[in-house]
Amino acid sequence: MGKSAYIHTFGCQMNVHDSEIMTGILEEQGYSRTDSPSNADLVIFNTCSIRQKAEQKFYSELGRMKSLKKQRPWMKIAVAGCIAQQEGKNILKRAPHVDFVFGTQNIHTLKNIASACFERVAVHVNPDLATTELPVKRNDGIRAWTTIMYGCDNFCSYCVVPHTRGRERSRPSDDIYAEVSELAGKGYKEITLLGQNVNSYISDTDFPGLLRKLDRIGGITRIRFVTSHPKDLSDDLIRAMSDLASVCNHIHLPLQSGSDAVLKRMNRRYSFSDYMKKISRLRKQIPEIAITTDIIAGFPGETDEDHQLTVSALQQIEYDGIFAFKYSPRPFTKAAEMDGHVQDLLKADRLNEILMLQDGITFKKNKALVGTVQEILIEGESETNSEKLTGRTGSNKIVTLPKACSRKGAIIHVEIIKSRRHSLEGTPVNT
Ligand code: 5AD
Ligand code: SF4
Repeated sequence: MGKSAYIHTFGCQMNVHDSEIMTGILEEQGYSRTDSPSNADLVIFNTCSIRQKAEQKFYSELGRMKSLKKQRPWMKIAVAGCIAQQEGKNILKRAPHVDFVFGTQNIHTLKNIASACFERVAVHVNPDLATTELPVKRNDGIRAWTTIMYGCDNFCSYCVVPHTRGRERSRPSDDIYAEVSELAGKGYKEITLLGQNVNSYISDTDFPGLLRKLDRIGGITRIRFVTSHPKDLSDDLIRAMSDLASVCNHIHLPLQSGSDAVLKRMNRRYSFSDYMKKISRLRKQIPEIAITTDIIAGFPGETDEDHQLTVSALQQIEYDGIFAFKYSPRPFTKAAEMDGHVQDLLKADRLNEILMLQDGITFKKNKALVGTVQEILIEGESETNSEKLTGRTGSNKIVTLPKACSRKGAIIHVEIIKSRRHSLEGTPVNT
């Protein structure tokens, strides 16, 4: 009988994709994936440390494994991902029931899981990360994620990622081309290119060049990418997005704050007016583009005036959607050492104001789509209503429709007949 592995993934899409790679490697080692830790021989926590909350969630899950391990002493527990990289062997001290710790650059070491040379703690810098091809076992048969670059060199003052993911390294464009071609051959319709800052992708070509290369692959109808740093968003990228049929009309462009003083302390290296110029160019060249963003509420030293600048930025820009977070101090970061930390209640108030404002904007934008015809890719059964299918527009808006209308993987045209706060309802049209 083969062994079974349970992987609990926390955090961003990069981690979700890393877990797909871990699954690929483990399958080669004779493991199958199980949905529950209670019948697993190996439990892996693929962790996130972007904010304190994510870290706390992991530690409480890890604590729960203690009693399970008492019942199943042969079960191995491994901690991977960003907290593994950040804490290394400290995790073993804090949680002695953990057997292994391997960091973000050491996933390949899982190949040795069954052998005596598997290290207890592997958090080494791995310069070959971008040129090592690893097996991937993907969860979805229609949409696939692929990493085009690893790490981040930006050192935004609040962010732990440059410390947990290391220096930027881009994968050779031929490797990415080969992977995406293979996915097209297997019937995948949508590819999301992943990187902390895809705009600084550089190999034999730059990011717009990579998009142009991938656009030539037949079969892949949609290409998406996350995340773009505003300072590196070039005119050439805007041109490529507008020219290339497969590149979706959506960009996630984290603003973080509408105040120049805060942006400076965040080390973002753009001003609000620089950012607005890019928004104008995007909207001029791609009128139907959807723009989403990330906002941090209550960065150290943020005054009421700074916060109001963020509020007015949201009013001015009218994003299609946002992710907003209370500032959370992270280890190794400059911001954690800054003066003027904002009280938690005030951070919560500011976050709330931001979310309420955006809720109205999102709703208004959704309402404006009623009566329009949109092309959607059907992703499968709706999570909240088994009678319905869900799909997504190129601009990344969720559309639900009756099940009899279509099937997973189909690309169809729908008329939007109703708008909800966070989704749209559609009905198929013949085009
Ligand atoms: N506190 C709050 N939010 C953070 N983010 C990154 N670091 C922190 C932090 N320390 C947010 C940023 C980033 C998104 C992925 O997470 O908005 O764009
Ligand atoms: Fe973090 Fe800034 Fe890098 Fe994004 S660009 S991962 S926010 S350091």
